[in-house]
Amino acid sequence: MKKVALVTGATSGIGRALVELLMKEKIHVIAVARNEEKANQVRASLASLTKEVSLDFVIGDFKNNQTTKKVSEDISQLIKTKYEGQLDILMNVAGIVSSGYHENEDGNEVTFAVNHLSPYILTHYMIPFLKASKDPYILVVSSLSHYRASINWNNIQNKKFYNILKAYKRSKLYNVFFVKALANMFPEIKTYAIDPGLVKTEIGLKNTSKLAAFVWKLRVSSGTDAYYPTKFMVDIILNRGELAPSGSYMKEGRAVKSNPITYEMSHAEKLMDYSATLTGLSYQKFANK
Ligand SMILES: NC(=O)c1ccc[n+]([C@@H]2O[C@H](COP(=O)([O-])OP(=O)(O)OC[C@H]3O[C@@H](n4cnc5c(N)ncnc54)[C@H](OP(=O)(O)O)[C@@H]3O)[C@@H](O)[C@H]2O)c1
Repeated sequence: MKKVALVTGATSGIGRALVELLMKEKIHVIAVARNEEKANQVRASLASLTKEVSLDFVIGDFKNNQTTKKVSEDISQLIKTKYEGQLDILMNVAGIVSSGYHENEDGNEVTFAVNHLSPYILTHYMIPFLKASKDPYILVVSSLSHYRASINWNNIQNKKFYNILKAYKRSKLYNVFFVKALANMFPEIKTYAIDPGLVKTEIGLKNTSKLAAFVWKLRVSSGTDAYYPTKFMVDIILNRGELAPSGSYMKEGRAVKSNPITYEMSHAEKLMDYSATLTGLSYQKFANK
């Protein structure tokens, strides 16, 4: 059977490019989108690739625990019925930046919810399917900005003194902790944090103030196109590049050192416990299985 990949954030930027490159490698893709119209546009633009591989869009929103669990259940159902309960590659790509402090229905700050809690929840649902694969991978798109983040256990969601950049950087730091925790827990699944570099996408134009959007436009003009980092990501899952230890932080296909605090596993463990409390989903249930 051909490999099956799940890609979030598939309607634009890095996620959209990944869907295309994976399909060109003859990998079936399950793509997640919150906007059905955009999903239809992506599907139409990639129609010529669907002669040999499937592209299924699952529509859902990562805005809160309940909606993320719903989309995770819908994906689970599709994997069971169409792919005999097997998933080979999970690419957690969806992400936001947000001007101003906003809470979702669970009382969680929205950047934290979309960038950290949604991959935490979705991955939890996908673990059994990944375990059914002979060569499973989890990639989580982090960011260069994580190097400039600190951790403050008294203000983990930036509820006090909210700042757009601080919230974003911290969420990307949490992505690295999450990857390190997963790599420890599931040695059979190759798990990597990805640093895509600066990429020309519209992330800084959504959920942002006019000033933040203006700054993003200026900054991103020197970025790469979305195919640049995604080629390296596809090379990783096809074992084409360096064979880096699971848990590594990858830049341009190579393992590089992440923020020194990401090597303190007590932080990663604490983040996992905190996320389990917030979502009601603990990874402990997979221990010794
Ligand atoms: N661009 C960069 O320079 C850069 C650098 C470092 C890291 N990253 C990371 O790369 C990832 C992709 O970002 P990008 O730059 O490609 O931005 P993007 O083009 O805005 O893509 C983000 C994707 O996430 C989706 N998304 C956002 N909120 C969602 C929600 N609540 N539910 C479901 N899907 C949601 C978006 O859907 P819509 O299409 O409907 O908006 C979009 O498909 C992010 O994790 C970001 O932090 C980007």
